[in-house]
Amino acid sequence: MHPLQLPVPGERTSETVSRYRDEGGPVVPVELPGKVAAWIVTSYETVNEVLSGDGTLYGKNPVNCPAMHDGTIPPDWPLRQLVEGEHLLVKDGGDHRRLRGLINRAFTPARVEAMGPRIQELTDDLLDRLAEQREEVVDLVQHFSEPLPIAVICELFGVPEGERYQIREWTNVLLSHTATPQEAATAADELLGYLRAYIGRRRVEPADDLTTGLIRAQEDDGDRLSDSEMVWILWLVLIAGHETTVHLIANTVIALCSDPGQVAKVRKDGIWAEVVEESLRARNSVQNVMFRYALQEVEVAGTTIPAGEPIIVSLGAAGTDPAKFGADADRFDASREPDVHFGFGRGPHFCLGAPLARLEMRIALASLFARYPELRLAIPEDEVAYSFSLITEGPTALPVVLGPRS
Ligand code: HEM
Repeated sequence: MHPLQLPVPGERTSETVSRYRDEGGPVVPVELPGKVAAWIVTSYETVNEVLSGDGTLYGKNPVNCPAMHDGTIPPDWPLRQLVEGEHLLVKDGGDHRRLRGLINRAFTPARVEAMGPRIQELTDDLLDRLAEQREEVVDLVQHFSEPLPIAVICELFGVPEGERYQIREWTNVLLSHTATPQEAATAADELLGYLRAYIGRRRVEPADDLTTGLIRAQEDDGDRLSDSEMVWILWLVLIAGHETTVHLIANTVIALCSDPGQVAKVRKDGIWAEVVEESLRARNSVQNVMFRYALQEVEVAGTTIPAGEPIIVSLGAAGTDPAKFGADADRFDASREPDVHFGFGRGPHFCLGAPLARLEMRIALASLFARYPELRLAIPEDEVAYSFSLITEGPTALPVVLGPRS
């Protein structure tokens, strides 16, 4: 089959991947920006199959991909910044387990649980400030869905307020498929440089935050966590910890605004946890997760994928696969019978921040619609502008009319 383009100009990534699932099949060869050849798996079945093989049939470490090293993928390919480095998402087996275990020691369920009241406070504070807006139409991304997750993850790791927005800007460049090689390289260098300096500052000025927790773990454990690993942990957690939630809050608001009856039912029944799961299934902010490399030649749904070729796993297409979720798979329905979704992935790389993300999502959405039960979009849904990324998806701005306060 001739490779299909990914992304396609004028089409959202979620639209493209569902179309490829329906028209192209469960395993499709694609061409990424920069003419990089890859495969994408698009059905619930094949996504499940590839993720189940993580660590055995497939690896995430780019050493397993000849094209990354033999000049086929250019050295300055912008998306390299995301699929190289030293973070969890490019490690396999024992290397991955060791690093994840060390992070888990600082990032405990108790620590996440304890964030609840503070997340509520930050949410209420943003909602109070929204109420002070004089215009009838406000941008919910700028005033709510973006600042909340940034504040939560940065506060958790102690990043001072004045430095947070810069992290958002570097993230935008790194995830964009329109960034030039120069822009991507500059953003990557600046972010890593910032993180090195920030960790250095925390060493001399410890505080009650997870960065200090990681530094202590590093010292107590006789330097088991290297300085560079510390930097990459922060890199991943600060990026993955906000980009995903920023977009998922906004995607859910769009879904709910298109169905006021559903908002009323959700509010009456208090089923915000179900809303979050439905959103992770059908409106996920993480549309595609990046490369797995087959460790040997594999056959997936009848297609042979040679060893070492990069594979993208489309969580978005899997979540709306009619073969699994029925003819109305694309419809957002919080009262749908719950079923397993891959919104947070599965297997060894299952999202480390899932409990935090679920907590944050519930608080944000329940509080927003409790305060503004008649919230509605100020523009038609198909005029909402989306981010340019083949990995994450969410609106860049979301003009809404708040309506009366309850
Ligand atoms: C709605 C919000 C979120 C979504 C949809 C999401 C989704 C995901 C997905 C799909 C993966 C697996 C990637 C893969 O298999 O290649 C992942 C991994 C990860 N996520 Fe999240 N995430 C969210 C929020 C967060 C938050 C708040 C944090 C902050 C702590 C976080 C930290 C991570 C980390 C560190 C990994 C890598 C885990 C590993 O490789 O072992 N995520 N996330």
